[in-house]
Amino acid sequence: MRQDIERILIDRKTISDRIAELGRSIVEDLRGQVEEDGLILVPIMTGSITFVADLMRELPLRMRIGLVTASSYPGTATTSQGVSLEGLQLPGSLEGRHILILDDILDSGRTIRSVRAEIASRSPSSVRSCVLLRKRIPSAMETPCEYVGFDIENEFVVGYGLDYDDYYRNLPDIGVLREEIIQANPGTAKS
Ligand code: IMP
Ligand code: MG
Repeated sequence: MRQDIERILIDRKTISDRIAELGRSIVEDLRGQVEEDGLILVPIMTGSITFVADLMRELPLRMRIGLVTASSYPGTATTSQGVSLEGLQLPGSLEGRHILILDDILDSGRTIRSVRAEIASRSPSSVRSCVLLRKRIPSAMETPCEYVGFDIENEFVVGYGLDYDDYYRNLPDIGVLREEIIQANPGTAKS
């Protein structure tokens, strides 16, 4: 698995330090408000599993979790194929709640935009988004997102929850996949 990685882009220590900082800013912004109304974390599956596990432990706030499943890179595609929201497991009513959407990476922005619109339509008190990574491309930079861990170049990354064909999610660091791995895969839709 490690031999498929061309280079480590962000190592685990750097990730965990940054997540602690993100946690501090989120707590600063939400403390006071969420004590009354309650916070609901909405991690977008499956890429944000590692991120939510680490970030939630930096948030000493009363909270619940509601999962959303979205898929935009089916199988071996490395460019977004359009978003489908496959499952919404949200607490019955979002009315009066504060919502924090979490995703691993902001790319075309379609995922965050569609989840945000869906949630906003359910009358919460507030909606915020937090992503660990954001690609330095206009579509990502222009998508409303309150908290961003790292801005990265426009390359395909895996690890720390991010996958290629559902593999590599368990790498503790974030790395760039070797070009040959992507090219060797017959289903590749890289453009
Ligand atoms: P968007 O809807 O194009 O912003 O894409 C966001 C989703 O695509 C993320 O939730 C990721 O699951 C996936 N994605 C985008 N870029 C990458 C990448 O570089 N590696 C792995 N998955 C990615
Ligand atoms: Mg994802």
